[in-house]
Parts: sequence; structure tokens; C-alpha cells
Amino acid sequence: MLKTPWIRTLQARSMHLLKDKAFIDGQWLPAQSNKVFSVTNPATGEVIGTAPDMDQSDTQSAIEAAATAFKTWQDTTAKDRSHFLRKWYDLMVQNHENLAKIVTLEAGKPLVESRGEVTYGNSFIEFFSEEARRIHGEIIPSPTPTKKILVEKHPIGVAGLIAPWNFPHAMITRKAGAALASGCTCVIKPAEDTPFTALALMELAQQAGIPKGVLNVVTSSRENAPQIGNLLCESPLVAGISFTGSTQVGKLLYRQCSSGIKRIGLELGGNAPFIVFDSAKVGNAVKGAMASKFRNCGQTCVSSNRFLVQRQVYDSFVDQLVKEIQGLKMGNGQEAGVQVGPLINHTQFDKVSDLVKDAVSKGAKVLTGGKPATQFGELFYEPTVLTDIKENMRVYTEEVFGPIVNIFRFETEEEGLRIANSTERGLAGYFYSEDVAQIFRVARKLEVGMCGVNEGIISTAEAPFGGIKESGLGREGSHHGIDDFTYIKYICVGNL
Ligand code: SIN
Repeated sequence: MLKTPWIRTLQARSMHLLKDKAFIDGQWLPAQSNKVFSVTNPATGEVIGTAPDMDQSDTQSAIEAAATAFKTWQDTTAKDRSHFLRKWYDLMVQNHENLAKIVTLEAGKPLVESRGEVTYGNSFIEFFSEEARRIHGEIIPSPTPTKKILVEKHPIGVAGLIAPWNFPHAMITRKAGAALASGCTCVIKPAEDTPFTALALMELAQQAGIPKGVLNVVTSSRENAPQIGNLLCESPLVAGISFTGSTQVGKLLYRQCSSGIKRIGLELGGNAPFIVFDSAKVGNAVKGAMASKFRNCGQTCVSSNRFLVQRQVYDSFVDQLVKEIQGLKMGNGQEAGVQVGPLINHTQFDKVSDLVKDAVSKGAKVLTGGKPATQFGELFYEPTVLTDIKENMRVYTEEVFGPIVNIFRFETEEEGLRIANSTERGLAGYFYSEDVAQIFRVARKLEVGMCGVNEGIISTAEAPFGGIKESGLGREGSHHGIDDFTYIKYICVGNL
């Protein structure tokens, strides 16, 4: 199935992880239409393999399998579910390196980052294997002596999990870990750019003995994705949807879920401000900026999207940041030392190029980069720094999702906060300050669901991930991640 030398070695060492079939009801299946779609390595443009191009009929089979499996999975004990998740986690740990190589191959990120993603992704299964046993109810003091008020948490049923390409491992485990721990079964739709990581995870789930139908993966091309999403949202057999992706698609799924008043968790786009106040330690801010901006080539929902730097530290911050950026090594993520890989596909590449062209045409200054890096491949774009940003530029309002740093200068805390909050999005925000009063003031006023204070990397299985405003609904990870997959049942026992 897969052709490049790197993948041939991977195949020889770990054949069982590389799947060219989808996974439904414990079986590896082609599409009922027998159609396939090609998956390419974004670093080289080579086709690395094909996956089944499934449609609504395959999705219906997966939903029915998950609905049947739910009948028994919901009645397993929390301890049993914990053990299944732990076994799955242990197998992920054993297969860490090969999973990382598959991520690099199809998502293009540097191997060192893919290793980090696999560690991060695995940690959700470990975390939820522990959390499964702590989905507690309550006994609430009753106002009536003859009645008892009990509260239990129950799994909602079949969950449709629609996952993005930017974290093909972690965004599946963050959802599926919570769903399985809660007692839900899943139909997973991975992104068309990155189906192989999802399928490798299913192979390990099968080895872990997770019963058939509990986890299903439906793969498809971009063309078939809308009909699959639509069926997941509208099928009466699906109780809830968890989606990570663009705000535009999130709004569509939200509308589609409304017909069945379906539960929906949405992790959508951000427009994260990264504020450096005069009181900041500039060296720390530069380090945080690099980590936050260049993770996965800027293709991360929580990537800093607008850098706001106060007047006194502006020159020092910009000079140091530009130097760091000029030292980044670009290239194929399979090569040692590479820190910045390609953009995922032509749509993303064109968007990033157009945003830079738009900003430059409206007066932005390019301090470094500013053009494609075609010497590495068709989808590479130079890490870029733009200054003199104005509100009429697309980079001001749109999520860049690429290696572009836009820098604004501001004078006062009020002005910095006004610019930071002047967006419909509210996922993550970051700021650097050594002034304690300012830290608490700004953390309170930033309109975001997640706030990094003197820290550029905030994601971890233990913390609630999610946004406000148009960045989404619900939280993933942490004990709050269980809420999207459970409902509360109140039981009143009377005549006591
Ligand atoms: C995302 O980009 O959607 C997730 C990033 C993260 O979990 O840190």
C-alpha cells in the first residue's frame, strides 16, 4: 500500500499498524462502493497510500455497530472500562515511535514534534483510564423527610467524533478517552489528510481487546466528508457530536445538530493574542512566543495569532524574536534537526500566502520571510515576521494557521486589552508580565477560555481545553471532559 523508503522501513518493522481499510464493528473494511482516496506526504507530495472513500451507507453501518455495542458497553463497570483504556494506553506507549513516524508522514510535522504529540495524545487515554473510576454522582439533602434525592451520571450513547488533521493522534484520544470512560461508544471521522494515525490507533484498540463496535473509524475524501458529518449530526442513533476544526464548519454542524437537539462539543478556531507588557522578562517572552507560534508550523488552534508588544520592550522583543526565527531549520520532518515542516495542503498554503500578500499590499513591513520556501517543497512557507499591522488587514481578524508572526505596538494596558479582545474568537490568550497586580487584572479581563501567563505552552490532559465566544462550546481533557459525554439523571426516591 505505501511506497516511500521511510514507510517501507516502517512497514517492515510495524506492518500491523499501517492499515488501508476502515474499522467498523471490529472489522477492517473497504468502502461499500470500493472507492479509495489518496493520502499524500505534505513534505514531498508523494502519495503514501490510499484509504477507503466511505459515504453515508458506510457511516450508517458504523453508527449501527456503535449503537449495538452501546447496549453492553454502557453496562460495563467503571473499573472494566478503566482497564480497557489502560491496556490501550500501554500499547500506545509500546508503539510510540511508529505512531510518531506515521504522524510525521501524513501530517508533515517534524519527528520531534510528532513524538511530543504521541506522548500528549497517549496521556489522554492514561488520564481517562483513571478518570473512568471517578465519574461520581451525588446525594442532595432533601427538603422533604420522606424523599431522597439521588443524582447519577449516565453515558449519552453513541458519540460522533470528528477530528482534525493538525493533531491526528491527540485530538482523537482526547475525545475517545473521555467518551469511552463515560460508557459511550464512538464513530470517529478522521480528517482526509490524516486517516492513517486514526487507523493505527484502532489496531491498538483491537489488540487491547476493546469490544467490537465500541470504536469505529469511517474514512473519506474531502468530497464525502460533508455527507458523513451530516449523517452523524442528524442520525437519531447518535446522541452527541464532538468536533475540532474550523469555526465555519463548527457552525454548520451546530445547526445540523439542532434538528435532534443533540449534544455538541465544539473546539473551534482561535485568534490568540500574545501580549508582552513593559514589565515582562523579554527573554522569557521570546521563548514562549517561539513555542506557541511555531508548534506544528503555526497550525494549532491555540497558536499565538497576534503579537501585541508594549512600547518600551518593543524593539528588544522584535529583534530577539527575528533572530530566533531566522535560526529555525525548515525541511522534511523525517530529517534530523528539522523544526518547521510544510503546511498541510494547498488550501492552507494558498491561505497563508494570500494573508501575507494582503497585509503587505496594505502597508505591512516584512522583517523576515514573507514568501514560499519552494526549495524544500511545494507546501513550505518561510517563517515570517510582519509589523505595521492595521485593523483592515486580514491577518488582524483571521486565524492564520501558519508560520506568520504579526506584531503590533501598543502604549497602555487598556489599549493592549482592547486590541486583544477585539475579536469574535476566544480560545487561548497569552501574556508576559512580572507585575503581580497586572497579572491578575489581565488574566481576568482577557476574553478567552485558556490563558497562558508567562507561558507559551498550556495544553495538558489535566487541564480543561476549550474556548468562549465563537471558539466553541464545552471543554475537553481534565475531569470536565467527561461532561460532554454524560447526562445527569435525578432520581427521587419517595415514601421513605
Ligand atoms: C488544536 O490545535 O486543536 C489542539 C492543540 C492542543 O491541544 O494543544
